[in-house]
Amino acid sequence: MPSSSPSLRSRISWKQISWKRLAWYLVGALVLLAVAVLAARGLRSLPAVQAFIEQYPGHSGLPDGAPVGIPAWLGWQHFFNVFFLVMIVRTGLIIRSKQRPPAFWTRDNSRFPRTKGTPRRLGISVWLHLVVDAFWVLNGVVYVVLLFATGQWVRIVPTDWSVVPNSLSVVLQYLSLEWPVENSWVSYNDAQVLSYFAVVFIASPIAIITGLRMSPAWPMQGRLAKLPSERVARALHFPTMLFFLLFTFVHVVLVLTTGALRNLNHLYASRDSDDWIGFAVFAGSLVALVGAWVVARPLLLAPLAERFGQVRRMPQPAPAPQPAARR
Ligand code: HEM
Ligand code: HEM
Repeated sequence: MPSSSPSLRSRISWKQISWKRLAWYLVGALVLLAVAVLAARGLRSLPAVQAFIEQYPGHSGLPDGAPVGIPAWLGWQHFFNVFFLVMIVRTGLIIRSKQRPPAFWTRDNSRFPRTKGTPRRLGISVWLHLVVDAFWVLNGVVYVVLLFATGQWVRIVPTDWSVVPNSLSVVLQYLSLEWPVENSWVSYNDAQVLSYFAVVFIASPIAIITGLRMSPAWPMQGRLAKLPSERVARALHFPTMLFFLLFTFVHVVLVLTTGALRNLNHLYASRDSDDWIGFAVFAGSLVALVGAWVVARPLLLAPLAERFGQVRRMPQPAPAPQPAARR
C-alpha cells in the first residue's frame, strides 16, 4: 500500500531474502539433527558410555546453603533483558541491511554530557541501537549485582571442572531422546549452567566491548584507540548476535519441551507449580515483546531523538511502482 511517508520497513526489501536457500538450510539442519540423534542412540548402547553417564549424570551439585528457586527480581531482569534484546536485534539488523539512513542524529553538545570533541553524526538506527544498549547494559549490571548479592550466582557459575563431562552427558541424553528427569527449581543441569554462564559472562561482554569499540564513545586517541582494532570489533559483533539467536532458539525449545508449565511458573511467577499462572504471565510478556519489535523503528522514535540532539531527515525516494501482479 503506497503511503505518503514510506516507512523504513517498506524500504527493506524482503525479496532480498532467498526463501529457497533458507528452506535448504532448514532441511540441512534437520538432517544433521537426525544423524546426531542416531549417533547418540548408538553411543548410549555402549557399556562404556552407559558407565560414563552413570558417573556424570548431568549435575555437578550446588554447595550447601545454595538458594532454592527463582526470585521475582530475577524474573523481571530476565523479562527486561529479552525486551531490550528484541529492540537491539531489530535495530542491529536494520544497521546491517546497509540501507541509507532515513535520518541522522547529532548530539546536542551544549547540554549534558558535554564533551571536548565535536559530536559525530550518527545514522538514526545506530542512535536507537545505542540508546537501547544503554538500558540493556544497566539492566544487566543490576542483574549481576543482585546475582552476587543474593548468592544466586552459584546456580549459573560453574565452580567445578566436572561441569564439562556432566554437560556432555546431558547433551548426549537429550540427543538420544531419553531425557533426564530435571528439577530446575532446585538447580539447573550442567549444560544449562554452562550455556547461561556463556551468554551472561562471555557473549554479553563481547557484544558490549565490540559495540563500544565501533561507537563514537570509544576514544580516538591514546592507548585504547588501538586495542582491539575496529576491524576485529566489526568482524565479531555480528557473529555474537548469531550466538545470542542460536542460544535463544535452543533455550526456548527446551523450556517448552521439558515441562513448559512448570518452567514458565519458575521464571514468570516465581513458584514451583504446574498450573497455568506462569504461562499466562509469559503470554502477556509476549505482547510486550511484539510491541518492542513494532516500536523499534528509528523514524517512529525520531521525535524522542530530537529531544537530545538535532535530527536531519533525508528526502525519501519515491516508492517504487508496484507490479500489477505478484509472482
Ligand atoms: C521468550 C523467550 C524466553 C523464554 C520463554 C525463557 C524462559 C526461561 C526460563 C523458563 C528460565 C528458567 C529455566 C528453568 O526453570 O528451567 C530461563 C532462564 C534463563 N534465561 Fe531465558 N527465556 C527466554 C529468552 C531468553 C533470552 C533471549 C536470554 C538471553 C539472551 C535468556 C537467558 C536466560 C538465562 C541467563 C537464564 C538463567 C537465569 C538465572 O537463573 O540466573 N532467556 N529462561
Ligand atoms: C553495549 C552493547 C552494544 C553496543 C555499544 C553496540 C553498538 C553497535 C554499533 C555502534 C553498531 C554500528 C556499527 C556501524 O556503524 O556500522 C552496532 C551494530 C550492530 N549491532 Fe550492536 N551494540 C551492542 C550490543 C549488541 C547486541 C547485544 C546485539 C545482538 C544481540 C547487537 C547487534 C548488532 C548488529 C547485528 C549490528 C549490525 C552489524 C553489522 O552491520 O555487521 N549489538 N552495534
